[in-house]
Amino acid sequence: MEITVSSGNNINGTLILPLFQGTEKLDDSVKGIPAQLRIQINNVLFDNDFKAKAKSTLTLLGSEGGKAMLVGLGKKEDADANTYRKAGARVVKARGKAHGTELTVKLDSTEIELVSAFAEGLLLRDYSYNHYKTMDEDDKEDDLSARIICDESIEEALNESVRIATGVASGVHLSRDLGNAPPNDMYPMAYAKKAMDWAKQYDSVSVGVITYEEAIEHGMGGLIAVGKGSARKPCMVIFKMNEHLEGRCPVIVGKGITFDTGGISLKPGQNMDEMKYDMGGSATVFGMMEALASTGHAGKIIGITCMAENMPSSNAQRPGDVIKTLSGKTIEILNTDAEGRLVLADGLWKAGDYDPEYIIDFATLTGACVVALGHEATGLWSNDDDFRTRIHEAGNAVDELAWPMPLLPAFEKEMTNSKIADTRNLGAGRWGGANTAAAFLKQFVPMRGEGDDAEQIPWAHMDIAGTFWGAKTNDMVGHGASGIHVRTLYHLITQ
Ligand code: BES
Ligand code: MN
Ligand code: ZN
Repeated sequence: MEITVSSGNNINGTLILPLFQGTEKLDDSVKGIPAQLRIQINNVLFDNDFKAKAKSTLTLLGSEGGKAMLVGLGKKEDADANTYRKAGARVVKARGKAHGTELTVKLDSTEIELVSAFAEGLLLRDYSYNHYKTMDEDDKEDDLSARIICDESIEEALNESVRIATGVASGVHLSRDLGNAPPNDMYPMAYAKKAMDWAKQYDSVSVGVITYEEAIEHGMGGLIAVGKGSARKPCMVIFKMNEHLEGRCPVIVGKGITFDTGGISLKPGQNMDEMKYDMGGSATVFGMMEALASTGHAGKIIGITCMAENMPSSNAQRPGDVIKTLSGKTIEILNTDAEGRLVLADGLWKAGDYDPEYIIDFATLTGACVVALGHEATGLWSNDDDFRTRIHEAGNAVDELAWPMPLLPAFEKEMTNSKIADTRNLGAGRWGGANTAAAFLKQFVPMRGEGDDAEQIPWAHMDIAGTFWGAKTNDMVGHGASGIHVRTLYHLITQ
């Protein structure tokens, strides 16, 4: 969808009218509506046939021409940016062929934050994944376009925030595309190639790939162990933005299991297709890069994605194996389905090469996190209380909830209790599975400084197993991959 902003009053296509509860009459400032349609709208409002409750819409076709969609914003005193973002998304959901593809939005607000949140909702919800559908020309719809009528006083500022929202939405859409792609086409080196091709369009970014052979040379034992069972070999992809800049920078790490069968510890067959989403963390990293690059972000930032396909075969790792990771630490493999933590062990340690200001990893890591938080919130762990609060607040600001979870010494102890190696990839029992996974990862977060002064780099772990896909309550997406946390990261990094 292309969104433009203008202070002109002419209405093209369908008029989109967001309204608060209790609106009895159309504001006189709304110009250019055919007289008959205006009467129809006013009748509906006067008779209270449209109550403007949040998430409600009503379409009116003017008897003498013109179309309008009324959109509920709920109570005025409750309305914030989230209300407006959801209302924008609702318009796209409710839109049908009869509305046409041209929308004109008239909002009763001059607050940039609210108006651009509405625009963001339109952009985010305007997404479908049709790459694999054979479609007749007739079935293909033209792209949507929306023009937002605004007060002249805010035109310039609104233009700029719509430009940003458009760039961020392109990052979210890219993340969804990656997640929705079928695993026969989205395998580790396919992701790497896509990233390299993508980088060509931006001067600020470069993408490097550590191939399977190079990973062996470097001693990335976690990545290799998980990926070696597949004919599609693993790799690590490194995104660098504004690399020439001096100083510390954020390093964002993503789990990129392009398909998780469980390996030799094979998963049950039911719903196994959903394990194509197991590269959601790597989709978040790539989407974030697109959001930052397309909006012209000037800061330095590194992204690392650990790409592998977890397959059973005669080359696959076994339960009982002991592997040696990039950090030098050895891991006893007790279940090959606990593979995300193995590739992340190398990704987190690799982050230490880039003098991180902080490290955040994103991973569809555990079913236990979905048991704990459902599809409503991402699990958030951190070794730094202030940092955890910052991420929690960034998530709240953009309505992508991340819920604080405990990183306890007892969980760490449970994970280091191996008879033959430094650590093990499975907890002692099934309880607290999301917490033991986080505690396992903590062991691979690099240190800053030497000797007694050495301190672990601020790090956070985001378990997106329940939020990257399957969230029926996420208003910003219809189905499939959600592209969650591209916006959280954009907010965190640019605020
Ligand atoms: N990719 C899965 C986690 C997952 C489960 C993501 C459901 C999305 C939905 C992960 O690799 C996994 O298999 N985890 C195991 C860990 C266990 C073996 C310790 C799990 O959660 O069962
Ligand atoms: Mn698994
Ligand atoms: Zn997995």
